[in-house]
Amino acid sequence: TPRVFSGIKPSGGLTLGNYLGAIKRFVDMQGGEFETIYCVADMHAITVWQDPEELRQATREVTAGFLASGIDPESSVLFNQSRVSAHAELGWLFNCVARVGWMNRMTQFKDKAGKNAEKVSLGLYAYPSLMAADILLYHATHVPVGEDQKQHVELTRDIAAKFNHDYKVDFFPACEPVIEGPAMRVMSLRDGTKKMSKSGESDMERINMTDDADTISKKFKKSRTDPEVLPEEMEGLANRPEARNLVNIYAALANMTGEEVLAEYGGQGWGKFKPALAELAVEHLAPISTEMKRLMDDPAEIDRILAKGADKANEIAQPILNKTFEIMGFVR
Ligand code: TYM
Repeated sequence: TPRVFSGIKPSGGLTLGNYLGAIKRFVDMQGGEFETIYCVADMHAITVWQDPEELRQATREVTAGFLASGIDPESSVLFNQSRVSAHAELGWLFNCVARVGWMNRMTQFKDKAGKNAEKVSLGLYAYPSLMAADILLYHATHVPVGEDQKQHVELTRDIAAKFNHDYKVDFFPACEPVIEGPAMRVMSLRDGTKKMSKSGESDMERINMTDDADTISKKFKKSRTDPEVLPEEMEGLANRPEARNLVNIYAALANMTGEEVLAEYGGQGWGKFKPALAELAVEHLAPISTEMKRLMDDPAEIDRILAKGADKANEIAQPILNKTFEIMGFVR
């Protein structure tokens, strides 16, 4: 069976961007034609400083987010990365396959490092090679991610191809990013040109998966918009980033296309659309946030689920790592 792999960094709380761009789609891919493997990428989180207690907390929160949204640990493999040491091992092997020039092209690194590239961790720079290890350790072929991770999945293909070429094997499969639907890049609620992220300054910019009903509703009602009414077609939103973002969020939550949303709301003003969006979001997200809080009250149960998931992950990963060592000529 073809495999799906994806992960989320526990570097703070989860946002609506993580939910619509990743988790909701992970749930949709579960229980069908794929074997699904989902990872709380704790080793990726430490590429920037994490307070140890906060890392523990965030690891449990991301796990609770997965579970509350409908990831079933019986039908998907759900685990935290650091528990499966094969990730770190294959990551090192891939550091020796990937080229510095490839890493230099990673736009996320350039954005995150900014002018401070001398001061960031070496891990932040090498991070895409660990991500390639995450995926290829399971011979996964489908990688559901948001738009911002596309380049890293493409790099994973390059690493797999170079490994196969250098060692004259056909061992690591090609993988493809699965980026579809209306919310592959959810934007800030205050600035439609900026990605919604866990680290944005103001809490009003984002919906957190732990926000309660009143907060969700308030944030949508206060979100930035323009004075125009909604158009009948998506083209009409080309130069209206805030408006387009809200329509896309509505579409993703309602399992509709943007066009379908506009067929319903075209010609209407914000006075009609915003309350409808707020209501839809509350209906969808408030039960998840309530369930997350319930789960987080029992960290021992979360840890037990992660430990069991790691055992299952190990069973798949270890033979693939062993084979990789053999191909490369290590005496074992
Ligand atoms: P991370 O933790 O930054 O984000 C997790 C997932 O959420 C998506 N996402 C968004 N999608 C739409 N709109 C947004 N505003 C938004 N913000 C975040 C991301 O695209 C991602 O899919 N390196 C990865 C984690 C990772 C991984 C992997 C992913 C580690 N190993 C292997 C796939 C395969 C990351 O930092 O995602």
